[in-house]
Amino acid sequence: MIWTSHPVSRLAGSLRAPGDKSCSHRALIFGGLADGTSRFTGLLEGDDVLRTGAAMQALGAAVERTGPGEWVVTGVGPRGLTSPQHVLDFGNSGTGSRLMMGVMAGYDLTAALTGDASLCSRPMNRVLNPLRQMGLKDTAGPDGRLPFSITGSKALQAIRYAPPQASAQVKSAVLLAGLNAEGETVVVEAKPTRDHTERMLQGFGAKLTFRSAPGGAQEICLPGGQPLRALDAAIPGDPSSAAFLIAAGILSPKGDVTVEGVMSNPTRSGFYDAVNLMGAELGADERGEAAGERLIDLHAGYAGLNGIAVPERLVASMIDEFPILAVLAAFANGETRVTGAEELRVKESDRIGAVVAMLRVNGVEVEETPDGFTVQGCGGPPPGGGLVETRHDHRIAMSALIMGTAAQKRVSVDDVSMIDTSYPDFMAHMKTLGADIRAGA
Ligand code: S3P
Repeated sequence: MIWTSHPVSRLAGSLRAPGDKSCSHRALIFGGLADGTSRFTGLLEGDDVLRTGAAMQALGAAVERTGPGEWVVTGVGPRGLTSPQHVLDFGNSGTGSRLMMGVMAGYDLTAALTGDASLCSRPMNRVLNPLRQMGLKDTAGPDGRLPFSITGSKALQAIRYAPPQASAQVKSAVLLAGLNAEGETVVVEAKPTRDHTERMLQGFGAKLTFRSAPGGAQEICLPGGQPLRALDAAIPGDPSSAAFLIAAGILSPKGDVTVEGVMSNPTRSGFYDAVNLMGAELGADERGEAAGERLIDLHAGYAGLNGIAVPERLVASMIDEFPILAVLAAFANGETRVTGAEELRVKESDRIGAVVAMLRVNGVEVEETPDGFTVQGCGGPPPGGGLVETRHDHRIAMSALIMGTAAQKRVSVDDVSMIDTSYPDFMAHMKTLGADIRAGA
């Protein structure tokens, strides 16, 4: 169904950031593996995360919701995971499916995995290849797309692995398999990616060591055969979801938006660094800590932006934020160039193609390149008036709706249902700020 975001002159208010998606997946997974009962608050109840919880439950953990955002997980501990009685359907979630392959690799079990049309078109060999080296068996064809079955092994062997892509999902899958492997698993990261697996595993009692390697790389080392112990944790706010609200505050002529309790972690903060380079003056107040992560309250008001060449060193730490960055670039003065971001081709959609189409249909000049795009900023509100094809991609849908709040004319999207995968409160939050987003063209 088509939904439309109509321009408004003022977006203002203070909201609590939804729980971080990456940390929420990991909380349910690690809690499900641990010995004992873990309690989480502020967990993101998006479809992606709920499916990870359902998968852990199907593998033998007890996963229970006790209130809004409150979950209690009793892990399998030394008993280990067992074969599920039904197919594990990960919906739209690359993180859930890929991390769970790593988890299941170290147990004596067979599981059938599937997902929605978007997930079934995404590459899984990036995870299967290292897991096969460790001892995983699978029925995936050469193209490595879901659906397929995997069979884990108690005799998994540790490996030393340097992922060819900058991917936290691949790193995490290998480390999680390494928990139950014989020997020390080492992941060599050429460029840092989000480090929630490393931080949270330590919170659950695992021992990891970090070594620097030639060329600025880092080795993450995890001895096999490590038990996890239960943990109580508050989930930090999601900087990727907060980015939409912050962008709304920057674009709104009388914008005044505060997002509370946002996780401030250098492996996730590239978007905020980039918008500051573009001329936004974001405010940040310390807000304590949650689950070993620093929290801040972020504040954004209207700012005239200037285009930038996004520094490639920021790409991994803002990999989910390029759709909303592209919207900001459309309002900026001058050109914004994104390079070194070829990983965007294999996200929930081909995000380079989807971003380019989103801007073009709204009258913005943009050039597509193999590893990014170049936006010619309109130096103010872009024309708008387009109907954006979301391609099953939540971040394209939310970005287009934010664009509509401040473009010259309304912006429509062909679907909003998949926003629930990562940010079920998005529409309610936008309404609180004063946005005018309605069903219909
Ligand atoms: C995630 C890693 C990133 C990111 C995704 C969440 C994670 O994917 O895009 O939304 O939680 O590990 P890649 O590892 O494919 O870059």
